[in-house]
Amino acid sequence: MCAIFFVILVLLSGNSSEVSSLREVSTKNEMEMHQLTRVDGTFSGDPYGTMEKTPLKARAGSVQEVRRPVMFTFYEPIPEELRNTGMDDQSDRMLLQAWEKHWQAAGWQTQVLNLSHAKLHPRFEEYERRLQDVPLNGMDGKGRNVQYNQFCYFRWLAMASVGGGFMSDYDNFPLQFGSGVPNQPQNLQLPNQGRFTVYSVASGSEGAGIPCLMSGSDGEWMRLAFAILRSGEAHARDEKHWTDMFALMDLRHEQGLYIAQNEVLDGRSALFGRHWQENDCHLSQGKRAIHFSHDSVKNSDLSNFVGLSGTAQDRVLVMEAWMRRWREVCQHP
Ligand SMILES: *[C@@H]1O[C@H](CO)[C@@H](O)[C@H](O)[C@H]1NC(C)=O
Repeated sequence: MCAIFFVILVLLSGNSSEVSSLREVSTKNEMEMHQLTRVDGTFSGDPYGTMEKTPLKARAGSVQEVRRPVMFTFYEPIPEELRNTGMDDQSDRMLLQAWEKHWQAAGWQTQVLNLSHAKLHPRFEEYERRLQDVPLNGMDGKGRNVQYNQFCYFRWLAMASVGGGFMSDYDNFPLQFGSGVPNQPQNLQLPNQGRFTVYSVASGSEGAGIPCLMSGSDGEWMRLAFAILRSGEAHARDEKHWTDMFALMDLRHEQGLYIAQNEVLDGRSALFGRHWQENDCHLSQGKRAIHFSHDSVKNSDLSNFVGLSGTAQDRVLVMEAWMRRWREVCQHP
């Protein structure tokens, strides 16, 4: 998988020397990561070799049977003409492969869910029908991303049907072990006894969760899946556009609906036109991951990444370059 990944990098990027040096350093980082993860007694396998299969029914209670925690993501391809995410198929696939590589190297099993998993849920049809009433027409109301916005809702149901656990967007990458605790791999129990937890909080908000990294038991995923659906239904008249993210942020006022922990670094606070330095490391302290969202890469100052820009194709390269630098600067042996 890695070999394929880097071949794609080279094909896409021609023979720019910045990119070939990136490639060398990424390979080096893989080896470093390899050693890093070996520190953990429970995880001594080759992070890029044979991986255990993720049990579909990896219930919170039976997760002890597997040695690694599971990180799910959701990806369902959308036909080009129905998509307005700023990504093309190849860039999406590259990002997804990089996502798997990084979480696996951080000691997790990864599994990519799609619509078929959501359809396994006994209430899928009801959910699909009720979703018709939720306004998903995009900021400009033109409906250019309806399918994408539907999938963003369905992923919550997909998580409920595979038994719950952790879910990450595939543009969200682990810092060190992705546990938020230095030198400590994620253990196999879900945080907060499986109660629904959102790890990214909108800056300046009072606990408005961003759904890029979350965890919960299957019952909790189901509870939240219907809470965000109801939120969408409640805004059917007053909004042209609603999303699972708006819903989650809006629902912060509902006492006890979910726990918000500020443990994801927003790409915007990490891409600022100069290289990450040692005295920036406090910004990533206690963070599980960094979220290179489309907007954060597109609208940040990337002038320190020579030869790279905020295009879909460069997004994964910006991520790799930032991660390499972060490890060099913040990860003292
Ligand atoms: C959805 O996931 C299943 C199970 O992993 C897989 O067999 C199937 O090919 C996936 N569907 C698509 C469209 O990728």
